[in-house]
Amino acid sequence: MDLQINGRRHAVAAEWRDESLLHVLREHLGLVGTKFGCGMGLCGACTVMLDGVATRSCVLPVSAAAGHELTTIEGLAGADGTPHPLQRQWLEHQVPQCGYCQAGQLMSAAALLKQNPRPDAAACEAAMAGNLCRCGTQQRIRGVLIQGLA
Ligand code: FES
Repeated sequence: MDLQINGRRHAVAAEWRDESLLHVLREHLGLVGTKFGCGMGLCGACTVMLDGVATRSCVLPVSAAAGHELTTIEGLAGADGTPHPLQRQWLEHQVPQCGYCQAGQLMSAAALLKQNPRPDAAACEAAMAGNLCRCGTQQRIRGVLIQGLA
């Protein structure tokens, strides 16, 4: 079984196949930008994009990701290293505080903008509701998304 991640193909060893996608990303493939928070699909820290849709990697069996195009935070910037517009806005508006949840926040926000480039407040809140932040960065994230700054 192979995984297609950030435009690259990765082999998944037979002994990994019962693990979560998050575990394989972090522990076997070295893609540690995706974070472990709750491990139960509740916090959003582990969010990646699966065919452009925000997906909790901690509760997704790695076998379910085969045959799909995965994007992790390591693949959000352009191939030449140009930051994604959201990443630029995140820096400009000093969104992160401790930063732990921000990879998941960015992936959910990027998935939202893929589907809806000009989200209103309701769309933004619906898309980001599953991404928790204990520092209180939600208002700045909401501002970036709703004001269309990205
Ligand atoms: Fe996956 Fe919390 S670590 S949702």
